[in-house]
Amino acid sequence: MAEAAVGGDPEHAPETGEGSDVSTVSAAAPAEIGLRCEVDGEIATVTLDRPDKRNAQTFATWSALARIGDTLPERVRVVVVRGEGPSFSAGIDLRMFTPEGVPGQGSFASAAALGDTELERLIAEAQRGFLWLRRPEIVSIAAVQGHAIGAGFQLALACDLRVVADDVKFCMKEPALGLVPDLTGTKPLADIVGVPRAIEMCLTARVVGAEEAVRLGLAEIAVPAGELDQTTRDLAAALLATDHAAATATKRLLRAAPGRTLEEQAAAERAEQVARIRALFASN
Ligand code: ACO
Repeated sequence: MAEAAVGGDPEHAPETGEGSDVSTVSAAAPAEIGLRCEVDGEIATVTLDRPDKRNAQTFATWSALARIGDTLPERVRVVVVRGEGPSFSAGIDLRMFTPEGVPGQGSFASAAALGDTELERLIAEAQRGFLWLRRPEIVSIAAVQGHAIGAGFQLALACDLRVVADDVKFCMKEPALGLVPDLTGTKPLADIVGVPRAIEMCLTARVVGAEEAVRLGLAEIAVPAGELDQTTRDLAAALLATDHAAATATKRLLRAAPGRTLEEQAAAERAEQVARIRALFASN
């Protein structure tokens, strides 16, 4: 399978607009990447941008996502992940299932010809595109409308928070296609909805709508589709109002909490608070 193309570097992308703090990457990216990233001050917006194909994702998309994570400017505190058009994302590009595959990126058949180590490395690189969204220094928000299927659902799950439109349709389709969800989605799904509900959702590939998504904790809020962008902006602004170091330390604590005992978590709270008190109140 060919090396996937990677998006540009947000730090070194051309500025757009007089005195603007906005930069753009992947503007001239090949169609299969279908991704762009704009950085505006402390907010980066990653947009799936292949609406005519319902923002189907390829290995190039995931490599570009990983590169955005690698090159994210330090000033960025909130990352919004959104999709152009009627659907957030219809998941993996279905051409992967054909013998021809995706031009320059091969197919599942060509992937199957790789050795185990090489194939796992390929999947690991794809997963890298998703994992950085949980970093403590940022809060990631998925703004999700329409279909979020398979890789689309997993991309939303890779984010810390989900704001959904009332037409959202989450569906974990991989098992119905003979695969497993491998883009880091199984853990957040099981953590959020519980193992039995996750088994039921994945193995039936049923659609979860907005009301159920909020009820299960898969979305923080559901709003009319026309209010999705503004609600996301409002949430980003509210998150930015909190001190960055305190927000980072608190997110680090909360993310680690499910894997720790109460005593371990209490010790972690003490360690983080010592650093906070010294940072805020030490006289020298
Ligand atoms: N891969 C490639 N192309 C796609 C994909 C996809 N996953 N999904 C949609 N498209 C293309 C269609 O082929 C169509 O292209 P065309 O205009 O050239 O014919 C275009 O996007 C629009 O698709 P429609 O089906 O016409 O759009 P609609 O809004 O009616 O339906 C829906 C959207 C429900 C998402 C439908 O397109 C669909 O079911 N897509 C496939 C979903 C899927 O099975 N994804 C794989 C999940 S598993 C995983 O991600 C690992």
